[in-house]
Amino acid sequence: MNSLSQSTNEGIPIPRKAPTFTGSARELVRAPHRFFLQLTRDYGDVVQYRAAPEPAFLVNHPDFAKHVLVSNGRNYNKDTYLNKYMLESVTGQGLLTSENPLWRKQRRLIQPAFHRHNLANFANLMCDAASQMLVQIERYAAQAEPFDIANEMMRLTLDIVTRALFGYNINQQATAIGEAVNTLIEIAKPRRRKFQETLKYLDEVVFSIIDQRRQEPGNGRHDLLDMLLQARYEETGERMRDRQIRDEVMSLLIAGHETTANTLSWMWYLLGQHPAVVEQVEAELARVLNGRFPTLADFPNLIYTNKVIKESMRLYPSAWSISRRALEADIIGGYHIPARSIVALSPYTLHRHPAFWPNPEQFDPERFTPEQEANRRHFAYIPFGGGTRKCIGDQFALMESMIVLPMTLQRFRLCLILNQPIEEHALVTLRPKPGILMTAAKRHL
Ligand code: HEM
Repeated sequence: MNSLSQSTNEGIPIPRKAPTFTGSARELVRAPHRFFLQLTRDYGDVVQYRAAPEPAFLVNHPDFAKHVLVSNGRNYNKDTYLNKYMLESVTGQGLLTSENPLWRKQRRLIQPAFHRHNLANFANLMCDAASQMLVQIERYAAQAEPFDIANEMMRLTLDIVTRALFGYNINQQATAIGEAVNTLIEIAKPRRRKFQETLKYLDEVVFSIIDQRRQEPGNGRHDLLDMLLQARYEETGERMRDRQIRDEVMSLLIAGHETTANTLSWMWYLLGQHPAVVEQVEAELARVLNGRFPTLADFPNLIYTNKVIKESMRLYPSAWSISRRALEADIIGGYHIPARSIVALSPYTLHRHPAFWPNPEQFDPERFTPEQEANRRHFAYIPFGGGTRKCIGDQFALMESMIVLPMTLQRFRLCLILNQPIEEHALVTLRPKPGILMTAAKRHL
C-alpha cells in the first residue's frame, strides 16, 4: 500500500513516479471496473494505466478522492472522453457536463428544486408509478411467469423522472421520450445515424413541450420543467433560454433514469440471494407501515430498509467511475500527476477497499449502523460522488428506492431464477447484463 505522502526532513513532499501498469489494456475495454479493481489490488492506491493519448491515473484512497473532488477540486474539470464525447452530445451544456462559470450559475438556480421540502411533491407520483409497475408484476405473478426485473426498473424510473419533469398530462409524449432516451443510451455512439435521428426527434418533442408551456404558464403545476421555466438568475432577474432549458431537461433525464434503475435492479439481485435479509425488511415494513404505502414521514423509521439500499449501492454503485482532468500538475499520495492527466476515481473499487470495508465482497447491511457510519473514513463511500459536483438527485433517488422497495415487498415475494449468467456490464453506468430474471408470488398477509 502507498504511504499517503513522502517528504523531506523539511516537510517538503518529493513527488515520485506512480507505479505503472504496462500490460495489455484489453481488460480495460472488456470489464473496466474489474480491471480497476485488479489494478488497486496489484499496485495500491495510486496507479498509472494506459488510456491513450494522455496519462491516466486511478486513485483509490478516500483521502485522495476527497483531494480531487474537494480540497484541490479547482484543479480538476470534466474534460474527459465520457463527458465530451458521449454525454455532451445529448446533454449539451446542462448541469452534468458544463463547466464554470455556467455550471455554478445553473446549479444555484436548479438546486432549490431538489431541496428536501420540495421533494415531498414527488412522493405521490413515485407511489403512483410504483403502483402501476406492481400491476404489471401481478400479471407475471398470476401466470407464474419469469420476468426481467431490470427491465421493469428501467421503465419505472423513466416513468418517474419524466413525470417529475413534465407532470402527468403528457402520457403519450412521455412514452415517446422514454423510448428515445432508451435508444440513445443503448446506442451510446453519437456518430451513428440512428443516434442522431433519435436525438433530433427527442429535441423536437422537448422543444414543443417547452413551447406549449410558454403559452400556458402556471396552471399550478409543480413539476421540474415549470421550475426551470420560472426560475430567474439572481444577478440579472432573467429567465433561462430555451436551449439551456432543453440541456437541463436532457441532463436530468439521462442522469436520473438509468442510474436509479440499476441501483434498484442490483438491490433485487442481492435480495434474491439473501432471503434472511428480505425477511428482516418485511418484518420492519409490517411493524412500521402495517400495510400502508410508505410516506416521507416513515423514512426515519425504516432503518433497516435504508441500510439495505445503502449496502446495495456500496457493492453496485451505478456510477462506477468518476473521472476528471487535472488542469495543472498535482501531487496525490506523494505521486506526481502531470498537468492534463486523467484522474479516475472508482466508487466500485473504493467501496471494496479492504482497509475500509472488511470482507468487502460480502453483502452486509449492518455496515451501515450509525456508529459504523460515524467512524468510517470520509469519502470511503461515494455512490453519489462528492464536493461541489455531487449528484443533485441523491435525495430524489433515495426517496425512489425507499418507496419502491417497501411497496414491492409488501405485496410480492420475489425469487431469483437460479443459474442465470448475469454480467456486470460497466459502460457509463454499471448494468446487469442481459438482465435479471425473477418470479413473483403474491404475499397473502
Ligand atoms: C442511484 C441513483 C443515482 C446515482 C448512483 C447517481 C450518481 C451520480 C454521481 C456519482 C454524480 C457525480 C458525477 C461526477 O462527479 O462526475 C452525479 C451527478 C449528477 N446527477 Fe446523479 N445519480 C443518481 C440519481 C440521479 C437522479 C435521480 C437525478 C435527477 C433527477 C440525478 C441528476 C444528476 C445531475 C444533474 C448530476 C450533475 C450534477 C452537477 O455536476 O452539478 N442523479 N450523479
